Amino acid sequence: MAQIIKLDLSLPIWQRFFSVAPLVLIGTRDERGQLDFAPKHMAMPMGWENYFGFVCTPSHKTYQNIIDTEVFTVTYVRPTQLLLSSLAASPRCENDENKTILERFDTFSASEIEAEFLQDGYVFLECQSYQIIDNFGENSLITGKIIAAHVDEDALRTSEQDDAELINRSPLLAYLHPYRFSTIHQSNLFPLPANMKK
Ligand SMILES: Cc1cc2nc3c(=O)[nH]c(=O)nc-3n(C[C@H](O)[C@H](O)[C@H](O)COP(=O)(O)O)c2cc1C
Repeated sequence: MAQIIKLDLSLPIWQRFFSVAPLVLIGTRDERGQLDFAPKHMAMPMGWENYFGFVCTPSHKTYQNIIDTEVFTVTYVRPTQLLLSSLAASPRCENDENKTILERFDTFSASEIEAEFLQDGYVFLECQSYQIIDNFGENSLITGKIIAAHVDEDALRTSEQDDAELINRSPLLAYLHPYRFSTIHQSNLFPLPANMKK
């Protein structure tokens, strides 16, 4: 029988096994209007209502931009955008604050805030920064109130169509930390207990 192994907490544990996460691109602008994108997998809804949060660090431009402008966008990327998402984590050029690779990204403007989305994603959230909680070690939790949200028609759930077919036609990207990914075409209905309450 397989043994259960105790992990050494003197190092972060998250490299020692795989877990499933989404992958989103957080879009911000600095005070000069220079746009930035960064991939985040530690990202999720903050509860059942329209709040969103992700883990960042004060040394990242994303964090500094949100402190300065108080807004950010979230683009949920498709499996076809894996490479672009990864390139958004490219290091900055010396003597240049910018990630030059971002100039190659096709983007479009948010409707309510001064920020951009990555073209061809499937969910687009516009967020007003809400609470920022620092000191999870070097990391911080950045949360936002969603003030506008759009979904590409091909990923929108409707009562007329089957959910399994929707995922099959518009597959989802799963980020498997550390540094693997999977494309999800196939899914099953989750077996909920009778009379479950949220
Ligand atoms: C697949 C992937 C997932 C990542 N997830 C996170 C994350 O959840 N939180 C985080 O702080 N950094 C994460 N990073 C690292 C940042 O995206 C990266 O350091 C980025 O360049 C920071 O950009 P910025 O300085 O423009 O904010 C991730 C990188 C990759 C490649």
